[in-house]
Amino acid sequence: MAAALSLFAATPQQIEVSRNRTGASAWGNGMTLDEYVQRDIDLQNSECGREGRYLTWVLAPRNDSHTLDFLCSCETFRRAGLTSRRNHTSSKPDSEPLIEQVECYGIASVFTPPQYRGKGYARLMMSLLHWDLAGNKLTSTGNIKFPFDIWGSPPAPPKELGMGDATFSALWSDVGDFYGKCSPDGADDDSNRLRKSGGWVIRGTRMTRWCPRPDASTALMHANSGSDLHSHSGEWQWLTQEEVNRLLTHDAELMRKDLRARWFEIISSNSTSSSKTKVLFTFLPSGGVEAFQRERLRRFWEKEKIVHWGVALSDPLGDMSTVRAFATWTLDLRPPAPRTLVITRLRCGSCSEESERSENCHGTQVQILCELLQKVWEYCSEHDIQIVEIWNFPLELREVGYRCARHWFVGSDPEGEEFERTEHLPAFKWYGHEHGLTTISSTDSGLVPEEDEVEWVFNEKFCWC
Ligand SMILES: CC(C)(COP(=O)(O)OP(=O)(O)OC[C@H]1O[C@@H](n2cnc3c(N)ncnc32)[C@H](O)[C@@H]1OP(=O)(O)O)[C@@H](O)C(=O)NCCC(=O)NCCS
Repeated sequence: MAAALSLFAATPQQIEVSRNRTGASAWGNGMTLDEYVQRDIDLQNSECGREGRYLTWVLAPRNDSHTLDFLCSCETFRRAGLTSRRNHTSSKPDSEPLIEQVECYGIASVFTPPQYRGKGYARLMMSLLHWDLAGNKLTSTGNIKFPFDIWGSPPAPPKELGMGDATFSALWSDVGDFYGKCSPDGADDDSNRLRKSGGWVIRGTRMTRWCPRPDASTALMHANSGSDLHSHSGEWQWLTQEEVNRLLTHDAELMRKDLRARWFEIISSNSTSSSKTKVLFTFLPSGGVEAFQRERLRRFWEKEKIVHWGVALSDPLGDMSTVRAFATWTLDLRPPAPRTLVITRLRCGSCSEESERSENCHGTQVQILCELLQKVWEYCSEHDIQIVEIWNFPLELREVGYRCARHWFVGSDPEGEEFERTEHLPAFKWYGHEHGLTTISSTDSGLVPEEDEVEWVFNEKFCWC
């Protein structure tokens, strides 16, 4: 069965059918089918979608690849990411890491129509998708072989798009660990696990969910915290969409520095901890990636004429490059769910190398975080927001951050303010750098990491799709 099928970039007619199918499912709730389809057309023309970045894929018979009765479909967004790893040209283990911009993909909208479900189509489609996204990497290693005997010849992505060199891809699963079984070599589950060549690995499902306290006020904050909220040298400013986009272009630059800092943190802790990290990666929020979070919900918020989508602390009279901390967000106002503010990206001032030595650095960072949360609360108050969500709240600031947040918010769930999500589970597939994905042997030089040696930095909402 499998060899008679393959994965194809959808024709315009297939794209339309795919959108009609998904729009008629629960994903289209709150929109007419026309509105749903139009939203996807708008996304296709937006910064994150244009120039072939946003593609629809269909699993179809090889001898009828243009059929409108295809078996299942999914979507991909080509993006830029950053990785940090050891520079093997240097013999010193503590040398500067190699920080590179790489090609990567976000995957969305995996869908099989009800009549075709349970026949293995989605699993085959997702297993083949690895080859479209990262075929060059997989074959260049010689260790992951395309299973010609089971799947026939490999899928061929459109040549003009120059695909096949992804370093990683990610998706956000609503079906548990299903994607862990979608392996590029078509092997069964147990042998996948042994060879570490399985599908997408779930990582980082922590979720913070707060309800803004209706009884909180700035005066209460002062009384409770006993801290002077205005002792910092800077000004908080609300950000328009345009300003958020500019800020995130700058943030993408700062992420390089963050990856470098995180790298040295890992190196210095390696002797004392059991950290096995060999590679760090992140999606970049610029290029319309973070903006996608607002674009896809536009229909629900545009009636309210919302002007601001973030808040930032910068030096007095400073431009975006002086921003020390910020939060950006989208609003999910789709009824009947509670009106929700989702933090897409949170930067809470980092202690620069010089200031790190100063004892005050951490204290200042905590104070900035408290102020930032207060600003988010003010915004919630003004816009009648009932829920605030944050994915993977920064671990190092969690304890003080939550303590401070309790002035403004209460946990919305019985489990408390933080819990492990059971939907939209972030899952990544690491393809690797020039050596691709291989089995690690005891003699391996460390160039090709296993999945538990790969760290997803900035695993926040901004990159969801
Ligand atoms: C999820 C979906 C794509 C699977 O498609 P499919 O072609 O039936 O998939 P396959 O036949 O290859 O595999 C079915 C597997 O999906 C699992 N699955 C389906 N729905 C599931 C769910 N809601 N939760 C957990 N697992 C689920 C099945 O248990 C089965 O697992 P198994 O292989 O261990 O038996 C399909 O059910 C669908 O379109 N659902 C609605 C849209 C959706 O939720 N998409 C996923 C978004 S992340």
